[in-house]
Amino acid sequence: MYIEEIKQAAAYLNDRLQHQPTTGLILGSGLGVLADEITDPVVIPYGDIPHFPQSTVAGHKGQLVAGTLEGRHVIAMQGRFHYYEGYSMKQVTFPVRVMKELGVETLIVTNAAGGINVTFEAGNLMVITDHINQMGDNPLLGANEEALGERFPDMSQAYDRELIEHANRCAEHLSLTVQNGVYVGNTGPAYETAAEIRMLRTLGGDAVGMSTVPEVVAANHAHMRVLGISCISNMAAGILDQPLTHDEVIETTAQVREDFLGFVKHIVNTLPEKY
Ligand code: HPA
Repeated sequence: MYIEEIKQAAAYLNDRLQHQPTTGLILGSGLGVLADEITDPVVIPYGDIPHFPQSTVAGHKGQLVAGTLEGRHVIAMQGRFHYYEGYSMKQVTFPVRVMKELGVETLIVTNAAGGINVTFEAGNLMVITDHINQMGDNPLLGANEEALGERFPDMSQAYDRELIEHANRCAEHLSLTVQNGVYVGNTGPAYETAAEIRMLRTLGGDAVGMSTVPEVVAANHAHMRVLGISCISNMAAGILDQPLTHDEVIETTAQVREDFLGFVKHIVNTLPEKY
């Protein structure tokens, strides 16, 4: 049973961790370097953890790194599971459930995304203010497990307002220009067509990617507070006269590495307590 699997995975991790983590990090394409900043790290490959799926994408490692970041006990996913890899939504969100079971209350989710908003530029960081689920699936489908959360969870503030403000204050403090916007989650793995990007812009999207939405739905179901940060790795299809490649995504995330690291570290360093 799902709950039993969550408990077994958490118990396995609990035996190995030095501290109970309170902040979880999910590190997207090219952004896994943040886990290298964690001190006294305990590194656990996904393959060692009972019931954990395995990561298959180039540029994604596939391990949990737990330890201290900016004085806080954190646990980070270096590499995540994507729906397009063939995992079910329940599998994609399994690590979020395990984090919750370990005591994580605040989840910081990061990703690489294509810029839909034409005022954005590749290399921008974007604080996610909301999302649009275009995946045609939901991790909460099926019988509801009351122990994990309620049947019809509120999603009207899926991204915590206080954390959005906090992130913007941090950016200001660092003199870092960041965008704010709505993330659209598509399944991928094909990038969008130019017509799809025009449609998504009309629908209110500012950035588009192939992750994050499932994890954020599960985290809200679990009453975790969520902060989302996108690295705009490229302008979405049809905006510039050039094809999209995964190499460009990885290249841009590498270029903004220092900004990204400084930003998230400052956010974690000054994270407001959960009320
Ligand atoms: N579309 C979808 N996913 C992405 C993109 C994009 O343009 N860039 C990075 N991930």
